[in-house]
Amino acid sequence: MSDGGRLIGNLIASQTWLETLSPPLQKAIREIFSGEAGRDVKNALHGVWLGHPLHPVLTDIPVGAWTAAMVLDGLGLEDGADAAIAIGLVGALGSAITGATDFSEIDPPARNVGLMHGLLNVAATALYATSLAMRRGGSRQKGIAVSMLGYAIAGFSAYLGGHLVYADQIGVDHAAGPEAGRLEKFTPAIDESELKEGKPARAIADGVSLVLVKRGARIYALSETCPHLGGPLAEGKLVGDAIECPWHGSQLALEDGHVVNGPTTFPAHCYETRIRGGRVEVRLAKR
Ligand code: FES
Repeated sequence: MSDGGRLIGNLIASQTWLETLSPPLQKAIREIFSGEAGRDVKNALHGVWLGHPLHPVLTDIPVGAWTAAMVLDGLGLEDGADAAIAIGLVGALGSAITGATDFSEIDPPARNVGLMHGLLNVAATALYATSLAMRRGGSRQKGIAVSMLGYAIAGFSAYLGGHLVYADQIGVDHAAGPEAGRLEKFTPAIDESELKEGKPARAIADGVSLVLVKRGARIYALSETCPHLGGPLAEGKLVGDAIECPWHGSQLALEDGHVVNGPTTFPAHCYETRIRGGRVEVRLAKR
């Protein structure tokens, strides 16, 4: 990351007014999705069904549509420009909802950058809505000027969105890494005697961090790093047939690591286990 990018990120992350606003806003968003039905909706908005965060997919709609509107304005194609702005507004609504749910499950310092990103997008969307109304009301040139301002704000906000992903690693798979594909052969991880029934245990096998759970005659093994933001799954608790991350409550199935509940949209790596000489050995499971 460039010095300029680091400076902007640090400047926003250090804003105390954002730090004050973020926790109650996150709480309010989480409360909207409380209950089982709410959780299903929240999972869908995070992108659990997609196996990838949904928000960055939807953000392309307003950015692309408003770029098209600017070109169509330049060509004097008024109806086309207005239609592109309207399409962008619909896309902005979807981006806002999915972005808000993702924001509700992140921590400082990225949280402040996430909130600033959201506030700028609200401002840009309001400017485009105003621009559309002005264009329809006969003030086309002023409407175009307002949309240009909206485009500049949306552009800076898109930059912050990139900062959240590339610098703060929001929305990336934290369980991925050079060690993720290792352990193709059975490798000792922990003494069987160290495992307590139904209690998650941390183990290291050839440098790969794992969480193991003994249930009756079966021993389950998953990658220990939560794919959402890197939480320690070995410090989580069992909920049904899944392990719940202690940081933001993602639930990953013991059987195969699939996402039972977000915010993570990426599964955990799953390992086969066997006992040899009192040691639990693990091997990366074939998907
Ligand atoms: S780190 Fe966020 S749910 Fe695990």
